[in-house]
Amino acid sequence: MLGKVERLGYVGVGASDLEAWEDYATNLLGVAVQEKEDDGTLLLRHDKHHYRLAVHPDPSDDLLYIGWQVADDEALAAFRAHLEQENISFTVGDNGKVDARRVGELIELKDPNGVCLEVFHSPLIDYVAPFQSSRPIKGFLTGEFGLGHMVIGVDNFDESKKFYREILGMRVSDYIKVARGDKELEIVFLHCNGRHHSIGFGNGAGGLKRLGHIMLEVNDMDDVGSTYDICLKRGIESTTLGRHPNDRMISFYMASPSGWQFEYGYGARCVSDEEAVERFTTISEWGHLRNDGLRYGDARKQAQ
Ligand SMILES: [Fe+2]
Repeated sequence: MLGKVERLGYVGVGASDLEAWEDYATNLLGVAVQEKEDDGTLLLRHDKHHYRLAVHPDPSDDLLYIGWQVADDEALAAFRAHLEQENISFTVGDNGKVDARRVGELIELKDPNGVCLEVFHSPLIDYVAPFQSSRPIKGFLTGEFGLGHMVIGVDNFDESKKFYREILGMRVSDYIKVARGDKELEIVFLHCNGRHHSIGFGNGAGGLKRLGHIMLEVNDMDDVGSTYDICLKRGIESTTLGRHPNDRMISFYMASPSGWQFEYGYGARCVSDEEAVERFTTISEWGHLRNDGLRYGDARKQAQ
């Protein structure tokens, strides 16, 4: 295949309360504020990349764009040729956009749900000042596996699956299908490197927001525990610890200042393109219980 993204590189979100985000990022997530821009945008760093998460002042409190990394300028040129062949329109990012994202070059396109995707190469790396977490944790698992993973709500499951496979070149890792009321919820997990999934989405109507959650993987299980403690201490809405049956990660979910969730976890298994697709019937093998007693991903109880 000509076009293929290789890593989840960066994510841009809009937020109405930047002050709450700065506090949450540094005192809970353990990521660093690398830069505060003139308009208030926070560039958050959690590895050698200049930033991975950009939090922009924006009342949507939702996803603004997803940055997918390819290897180099030749790979981006091949990706552009692939889009032209598939009749997918795109624009070339101008100098202002390239500077803002701290990349060598980028193109912009929309997924079938209208989500802004940016495909880029050559992110800015900071070697002079190595990443230092704002909390005493042992860092995040990124590198060849990219930023982490994300789950979004989509308007059309089949069309979206086809797009992420055939246009972005991702591969299906597995599916989880669970009963949700009298319907079935099916979630597909897609990978573009050894990380079990870089993106996932379900066939049911998602939450009120496009962004369901962003997952950050830490290098030490104790850092999941200490972060969970801080959540409880601060009264931040969270689930209990739990393990997913497909990626085998032990994690918990906690509400971000924008309402969507962060998943904070450790110990996910890797996948390869040679593996056959699998199917599961539960989102969590154990745990991930919310304060209403149901699991993460279950439908909320209707108010009586
Ligand atoms: Fe997740």
